[in-house]
Amino acid sequence: MQTVAVISRKGGAGKSTVAVNLAAALRDAGQRAILADADPLRSSSEALRAHSLSVVETSASKLFALVTASRRSGCDMLVIDTPASPEADIVAAIKVADLCLVVTRPTYLDLAAALKTVDLLRQLRAPGLILLNQCPSPRQGHEPRVVSGTLEALRFAGVPVSPVALRVRQAYQGALSYGRGVTEWEPKGAAAAETRALADLVRQRMRGEGQGLRPANDVASGALFTVQT
Ligand SMILES: Nc1ncnc2c1ncn2[C@@H]1O[C@H](COP(=O)(O)OP(=O)(O)OP(=O)(O)O)[C@@H](O)[C@H]1O
Ligand SMILES: [Mg+2]
Repeated sequence: MQTVAVISRKGGAGKSTVAVNLAAALRDAGQRAILADADPLRSSSEALRAHSLSVVETSASKLFALVTASRRSGCDMLVIDTPASPEADIVAAIKVADLCLVVTRPTYLDLAAALKTVDLLRQLRAPGLILLNQCPSPRQGHEPRVVSGTLEALRFAGVPVSPVALRVRQAYQGALSYGRGVTEWEPKGAAAAETRALADLVRQRMRGEGQGLRPANDVASGALFTVQT
């Protein structure tokens, strides 16, 4: 079993949205996935109240025991949704994770917070991947300046940037308001396609395959995965 922690010290970056959709997409792909909601606000477990995906309400102090129990139960992938603070709770999730997804919106203020989160990963020598969320879509094949500028600024972050970014899409909000992930809500939609690409990337990364990942400076040259709409 492997564990992904979805982290960000910035509120509203999209941790719960990413955690729910990633867990649902992994399950669609045949994985036994469990979503652990370690945020006392309980956004992801609330959203999935009526969902058949296994969702466990937990807290930072219980994560280690949860990982052990999930492994024993035959789970393939444990996805942890974390709060934006306190730092101790984020550290607890990082310590049990095989991979930390650092979620950030492509804005100046969010970037500053993302770099602080990346510092935490570096201090703990934990494996991470930066995921840009809520990106505006490319226009005429070009990334908007906020996205290309953010990629440029992340070149020297020391943690790779996911070549799959999630765009601002209404489906992410629509699906969650009906307690669904986007892959079930609109399986043929663009949100579902990029979420499946993210789930594939996470699985590749967990298998230790690097092909899905390009160095941050490659991604900075504008090679983000893009769903044609
Ligand atoms: N890719 C996206 N496209 C459109 N809306 C999005 C996207 N990602 C997140 N959102 C919206 O942004 C808001 C914040 O998302 P979310 O609750 O997932 O963030 P969070 O990081 O978990 O916040 P918190 O720190 O409060 O736990 C929600 O209204 C969500 O629907
Ligand atoms: Mg949340």
